[in-house]
Amino acid sequence: MLLSPLLLWATTASASISLLPNTDATFPSSPQPFTISVSPAFINETLSRVANSRPPIPITGLSPPNSDGPTLAKYAALRKYWLNEYSWPATEEAINRVLHQFTTTVHSPDSSYPHPVPLHFVHHRSPRADAIPLLFIHGWPGSFLEVSKIITLLTNPPNASVPAFHVVAPSIPGYGFSPAPVHAGYGPLEAGRSFHALMLQLGYGKYVVQGGDIGGFILRHQAAAYPASVVSALSNFWLVRPNATDLAGWAAGETSEGEAAYMQGLERYIVERSGYRFVQQTVPLALAYLANDSPLGFALWVWNLMSEIVDPRHGGFGLGEVVTWSLMYSIQGPYGGFRMYKEMVAEGDFADVGIGRPPFVVQPVGVTQRPYDLGFGMPVEWARRDGNVKAVYVHEVGGHFAAYKDTESLADDVYRWFGDRELSGTAVFHQ
Ligand SMILES: *[C@@H]1O[C@H](CO)[C@@H](O)[C@H](O)[C@H]1NC(C)=O
Ligand SMILES: *[C@@H]1O[C@H](CO)[C@@H](O)[C@H](O)[C@H]1NC(C)=O
Ligand SMILES: *[C@@H]1O[C@H](CO)[C@@H](O)[C@H](O)[C@H]1NC(C)=O
Repeated sequence: MLLSPLLLWATTASASISLLPNTDATFPSSPQPFTISVSPAFINETLSRVANSRPPIPITGLSPPNSDGPTLAKYAALRKYWLNEYSWPATEEAINRVLHQFTTTVHSPDSSYPHPVPLHFVHHRSPRADAIPLLFIHGWPGSFLEVSKIITLLTNPPNASVPAFHVVAPSIPGYGFSPAPVHAGYGPLEAGRSFHALMLQLGYGKYVVQGGDIGGFILRHQAAAYPASVVSALSNFWLVRPNATDLAGWAAGETSEGEAAYMQGLERYIVERSGYRFVQQTVPLALAYLANDSPLGFALWVWNLMSEIVDPRHGGFGLGEVVTWSLMYSIQGPYGGFRMYKEMVAEGDFADVGIGRPPFVVQPVGVTQRPYDLGFGMPVEWARRDGNVKAVYVHEVGGHFAAYKDTESLADDVYRWFGDRELSGTAVFHQ
């Protein structure tokens, strides 16, 4: 008999206060250690769904062959790997060994969301006495695992001439092991309020923020809401909406090389790659039925995007990484993660098909750009329209998942940005 995740939840929810199906997670009022422990019955059931998946009937003549989505060869390879080689128990053990995880519940006094927010987060403290608290915010289709490779470089940097950090990396509600919001109205601003409440709960009254993708939007809301606490930010996803003058200049062929590259990149993303986002920001529940029923189909949905925004010179994602990253949604079900996009539209981060206008950030901001990501080439003058951007670091290699795929280059940016005490404002931590 196959047990559906919902049924498992229904049968265990009354016996414990677990808010996540498939794990025995609890969310007390102050941080307690957490280890991932997904129910073996759920993993079994997921494997049967992968085994019983049904491939689409192929259509030939596609140019290029992956222009409709991941090829049938990729489907077959991922399915075979997942069934024959992938080990969830080994994966779970490795994550638990490498990352010190906690759960808690926060209630932000500033919140307009009328429910307590249960959070899962990673927290590693640096041994250095002068370490700066750093909030690391992941994005889509990532998770808290994005911090896994960079975290030790930040807590234990190679020498005392670069700064060290106490790193806090929460799961955005609906992602990883932070349960999805139970009510509409929880978007990037509320996530920023929750993460601020988390930092205060951990005793960090002043801190810096690093983020990309959705994390790059949350940090803008959070910085704007808490100017006395968020000292400085480093974003690897700082997107500014071109205005009517820019678009007219582009049409007339009067834009600089960087401006043109930035607008072409945005246009290409919107026209060719944004399908996932439009579905998620319009009918996330309709998509959630499909995604819940087919973990393999959902893994291919995220792999499609994941494979397009990494620098091939740094290698793509391995099959095991694709499975694990997708499970960071599938274990609780991807609905809440999809739905964040709808809230981002409601809050103005996205406007129609394009980029919107998140709040202006007055604190010093560092921006870092890589060629296989959106935002590459955007001139510093444009970046400054949405914030007090003091430095833009432009890399010749790398892509979207900088912390995970371009780890040393992002660590170097973190060192040089927050290490410049005057420019970034981190002098306040050393008084
Ligand atoms: C998983 O499935 C196998 C074979 O179908 C079965 O023998 C085993 O008892 C199942 N384990 C759980 C935890 O359901
Ligand atoms: C300290 O480490 C940084 C970052 O790796 C490096 O750039 C710098 O040269 C090192 N400084 C010394 C004195 O070793
Ligand atoms: C677009 O932004 C530029 C630079 O900030 C400004 O000079 C221009 O007036 C803006 N155009 C519109 C239509 O707002």
